[in-house]
Amino acid sequence: MDISIQTQLSAAESLDCFICFIDFKQIDHSLQAIQISNRAAIKSIIERGDLKEKAGETLILPMTNIPTIDRLVLIAMDSSNTPDSLFKLMRAIEMVLATLPIARVAITIDPLERFNMIEQASLLISQACVVSSYQSTQFKQQPADQSIELKSVILLSKNQQKALNHSIQYGKAMGSGINYAKCLADLPANRCTPSYLSDQAIALSEKHDNLSVDILDEEALEQLGMHSFLAVSQGSSEPGRFIILNYQGGKKDQAPYVLLGKGVTFDSGGISLKPASKMDEMKFDMCGAASVMGVMSAIADIKPAINIIGVIVSAENMPSGEAVKPGDIITSLSGKTIEILNTDAEGRLLLCDGLTYIERFKPAAVIDIATLTGACVVALGHHRSGLISNNEALQEQLLLLGDQINDRVWPMPMGEAYQEQLKSPWADLANIGGPSAGMITAGCFLSKFAEAYPWAHLDIAGTAWKSAKNKGATGRPVALLTYYLLNQAHLIA
Ligand code: BES
Ligand code: MN
Ligand code: ZN
Repeated sequence: MDISIQTQLSAAESLDCFICFIDFKQIDHSLQAIQISNRAAIKSIIERGDLKEKAGETLILPMTNIPTIDRLVLIAMDSSNTPDSLFKLMRAIEMVLATLPIARVAITIDPLERFNMIEQASLLISQACVVSSYQSTQFKQQPADQSIELKSVILLSKNQQKALNHSIQYGKAMGSGINYAKCLADLPANRCTPSYLSDQAIALSEKHDNLSVDILDEEALEQLGMHSFLAVSQGSSEPGRFIILNYQGGKKDQAPYVLLGKGVTFDSGGISLKPASKMDEMKFDMCGAASVMGVMSAIADIKPAINIIGVIVSAENMPSGEAVKPGDIITSLSGKTIEILNTDAEGRLLLCDGLTYIERFKPAAVIDIATLTGACVVALGHHRSGLISNNEALQEQLLLLGDQINDRVWPMPMGEAYQEQLKSPWADLANIGGPSAGMITAGCFLSKFAEAYPWAHLDIAGTAWKSAKNKGATGRPVALLTYYLLNQAHLIA
């Protein structure tokens, strides 16, 4: 997809769609990019009330008097300058581009200047353009009826052209990363197995010179002593995989940022079997892993001057004669023993060995990403990911950047009182902490294995996918994590 920035359209430019943001206080100004002869007519359509002054309201004018432009789309702005209002406009662009057959589009961005975040806005528009082209119909016999692909986007702006080229580049890379994560996460568990994910990691590293990959199989994990990881995968006939993607953009001795993703390709619950209803959705239990893949792909495109390691712990959680049983006690890689009271609390068992393993990288910071608890969905719903951290600065930064890039998180506490809930009479830790504060006790469990570095945990159980009729992966939190890493590399303010 070609996204460029221009001061004006050349007369010969032919477009499937021209998108105009309408600021009701300055309708003339909003329509400036449109030929004078049409401006008055469009203004009167707006003024008679066909377009409501509500952020993101959309009016499609399927006929224009401009021979080279097939449709005009007006997107209303409201009077507030909040990021939320801007995000509604972005959602409207995505909707328009996803639903209409558009290959060539121009979008006026000058009216967005009043948000004072024109760089983020350009990034978000570019991201929305790429994300709008995502399709997930690969298993249907009949291809989707929308076969027209978005090829060219022109952002029309009078100023600041140079600075915005970077925003466009970042937005495109983030959009592709999001699509990649969605694509992996939408796959059913019979296709997307731990071995499939490791093949994808290999393919990704082959596509990019700046990425290398290391895969540990179960034999290697056994030798290392990752018995907590292996306790999860032992019930499945699909072998588990520990995947390490390495991006080196900085000096060799520079401490890396490490992302650790939960990659449970299917979570049946194991012997603590889940109820049948909606169990199909547990193919999404690898969304953390998918987001790591998406971020590594975006990073390999953008090439920031820092070091980043993406780690994926991938297994299938199944019941069988070989499966781990409630009450079993295992020894994790850290040496800590764990009493497995519920085999459905498997994510933390994979992640804890991952957290211990990555100590060897002496990380600058570690973020784990996991569809970890139903309790997180109860607490925060589908809007914000749960955040737990042992480092205040890191926590603040993720909170702030999430608000800026519309991939939001919310912090939850830890503390001795919650930690108490994880006591076991037999082992160093139990793997569950009872019915209350489920998201927090899961975070507390992980924190015991993350004491060697600044660490944050993102529980994406509510944000990484949508259920019911529109079910599918969202690609969250690829945008937040990429944005965070670009911020660490000083590429964005
Ligand atoms: N993958 C699930 C968490 C989950 C549940 C995500 C529903 C999205 C929707 C996780 O492995 C799990 O089963 N967690 C248990 C933990 C409990 C046994 C302490 C849960 O949340 O019920
Ligand atoms: Mn589970
Ligand atoms: Zn799970």
